[in-house]
Amino acid sequence: MKKLRLAVLVSGGGTNLQAMIDRCAAGSLFADIAVVVSDRPGAFGLERAEKAGIPAFCVDYGSYLTRDVTEEFAAGLPVDLDELDRRQNILKGSDPVKRRARLARLAAAERELVEIIDSHGIDYVCLAGFMRLVTPYFIGHFNTGEDRRILNIHPALLPSFPGSHGYEDTYAYGCKWGGITVHFVDEGEDTGPIIAQAVYPVWAGDDVEKVRARGLRLEYEVYSQVINWLAMGWVKIEEIAEGRARVVVTDSNYPEIVGGWVRRGLE
Ligand code: GRF
Repeated sequence: MKKLRLAVLVSGGGTNLQAMIDRCAAGSLFADIAVVVSDRPGAFGLERAEKAGIPAFCVDYGSYLTRDVTEEFAAGLPVDLDELDRRQNILKGSDPVKRRARLARLAAAERELVEIIDSHGIDYVCLAGFMRLVTPYFIGHFNTGEDRRILNIHPALLPSFPGSHGYEDTYAYGCKWGGITVHFVDEGEDTGPIIAQAVYPVWAGDDVEKVRARGLRLEYEVYSQVINWLAMGWVKIEEIAEGRARVVVTDSNYPEIVGGWVRRGLE
């Protein structure tokens, strides 16, 4: 079995990144983190990476997102903006000029991101608290043909509560069970094929921080397990309908592993 080379993308604290770093060091994650990239200069995840001796870069989205989108700027992009707008499924605003400008700025930032990732020869891109939309340009670069190479960890039981406030939404809705999801990334908002999920109870008297802590513990376990399954070649994707796919994990220990997550969730 070959160790996977990962690019891990972060925006903030990077506790998922740290869990991967620790598991790599312990030999329980069949992967090498080849590069860490943040969209913000101050992200603590960058420090975690540097401390572990992992190449760490920042693509400063803040500076890209304030740029003037001139015709010249658009012409220099690695992708046609009309095509990008046709393929994207996230920006819902009805003003096409604003939408194209937003996509143009994102694609310009992504060009830098892609260059960094490509120069490290990676197998998978792991979004781990990366709080930026990725455009079809980025997705199409890494998902080629049947190959899906971008993973995300989401702090809710999809398809419930997409977006960036999974724990807050779970808690505010009064759910009695919360969950976390690892999925492949597609052109929608948290809509890609689900690889694994785990659940935890929400008890009376919990606050959102207790809910988050319970969920994060599962995030670390499930994300690592998914990466190991990918390294083993045990993640199969079945196309079930136009544009829809179902993932099947062929690990013979699957029921025991999932049972372990259930017990962990209840701890
Ligand atoms: C996690 O809850 C993850 O599910 C979400 O963002 C958070 C990142 O946390 N996508 P951290 O930066 O790994 O601590």
